[in-house]
Amino acid sequence: MSRLVVVSNRVTIPTGDAKAGGLAVALNDLMERQGGLWFGWSGGSSTDEKRCNVPAIVDHGQVQYATVDLTPSELELYYNNFSNGTLWPLLHSLPEQMNFDRRSLQGYRAVNQRLSDVLLPLLRPSDTIWIHDYHLLAMAAALRARNVNCPIGFFLHTPFPSPDMLSSVPEAALFIRDLLSADLLGFQTANDAENFSASAQRIAGAARLAGGGLQLGNRQIKVGSFPVEIDPRDFAEMAEENQGSPETERLRRSLDGQHLILGIDRMDPTKGLRHRLAGYRRLLETRKEWSRQTTFLQIAAASRQDVDAYQHLRDDLEGAAGRINATLGESDWVPLRLISRGVPRDAISGFMREARIGLVTPLRDGMNLVAKEYVAAQDPEDPGVLVLSKFAGAARQLGAAILVNPVDPDEIADALDLALRMSRPERQDRWQACWEAIKDASALGWGRSFVSALSRAGSEIPRPART
Ligand code: G6P
Repeated sequence: MSRLVVVSNRVTIPTGDAKAGGLAVALNDLMERQGGLWFGWSGGSSTDEKRCNVPAIVDHGQVQYATVDLTPSELELYYNNFSNGTLWPLLHSLPEQMNFDRRSLQGYRAVNQRLSDVLLPLLRPSDTIWIHDYHLLAMAAALRARNVNCPIGFFLHTPFPSPDMLSSVPEAALFIRDLLSADLLGFQTANDAENFSASAQRIAGAARLAGGGLQLGNRQIKVGSFPVEIDPRDFAEMAEENQGSPETERLRRSLDGQHLILGIDRMDPTKGLRHRLAGYRRLLETRKEWSRQTTFLQIAAASRQDVDAYQHLRDDLEGAAGRINATLGESDWVPLRLISRGVPRDAISGFMREARIGLVTPLRDGMNLVAKEYVAAQDPEDPGVLVLSKFAGAARQLGAAILVNPVDPDEIADALDLALRMSRPERQDRWQACWEAIKDASALGWGRSFVSALSRAGSEIPRPART
């Protein structure tokens, strides 16, 4: 069997400090069970030549983790500026949050090249390579330029924007062409896959093939959607266990019978947190009956703090939370609890089971696994209600949630009011429909479906001639 080589910017070694995020959650399970090599950034930066160019290898279970440091300048140009300051907002169709400068673009491309150089000696001819996410858009092309002939797949964890939106970034065509060096391109939803194909046609001159693929020169590229999944039964079990954990007990006691509204996110401008807080404020201003009857706990783990937009967001949210509590709170009631630290996943699962409402309102999101986890965490006899942005990939599967436009505080307030009043039979019906949509899937199944599509694509597609 071919060895699976996963390449991603963030590598989560189970013994190390795990950074929360959809990619880590989805890939950990797959890698632990399937085994292989996982290559990427160590999470550290240094000027030490060796640490940047000779991978540190850690074996854990069936997985070999190989990581290198970035130099401080690479970290700035590639990670902070171009990946998170340009591509992240672009891919989430939030151009007003986007910065662009040519030096960062060049720094980004240089890191994709350098990581390819470091990976090259670790590769075997029979490997299958799976590259992940927006940090590494240029890597498939870089590997092909180094005569790597293995099947290469690429999966984008974020949304993919319309061709018009994409062309707002100079040199977008470069990235489209680079991606077309892979054999299989995977996206979260059919809409994202379609946006990519339309861009490849318009910007890079690729021809569309019947059956959904693309042709560029003598190469054919498969394009498909592979919605990321969680392990719903494992998560449900964890939530049930943690219902009685000391953390959940303390939270329950502190609520003193109030309904818990829960948000769990990285503190990220795409997550709709400013609007979400405004929606809760609107609820309390317009429906006084929910004063003292609700508590909104928003866990927003600080993230990417060297990027300006993230620092501003943190300041804004802390200010908005203070104002909500100062103007709407009572001497014996604090409406909003904002926590900017990460909380371990097992504790969160217990909080989710306790919550009457899971409030998940990103402005745009590739998938949003928190929405799926919230569904999995519920007690089927007395489930809570998911209030979900219609612009999260997860909304394609979880249409029985209350779907909202995340920029409209009134719509969020209405949805909260509806969810708080909802009868138990309606909550059960909606929950059941959501559960049906996710219950038979798994993170492993998601990974395997991509890898098997890749092995089919790899065997069907003629390799480009080497010079
Ligand atoms: C999202 C991205 C991942 C990223 C994660 C955490 O889920 O799709 O690629 O790893 O956020 O962000 P960070 O910048 O800390 O890696």
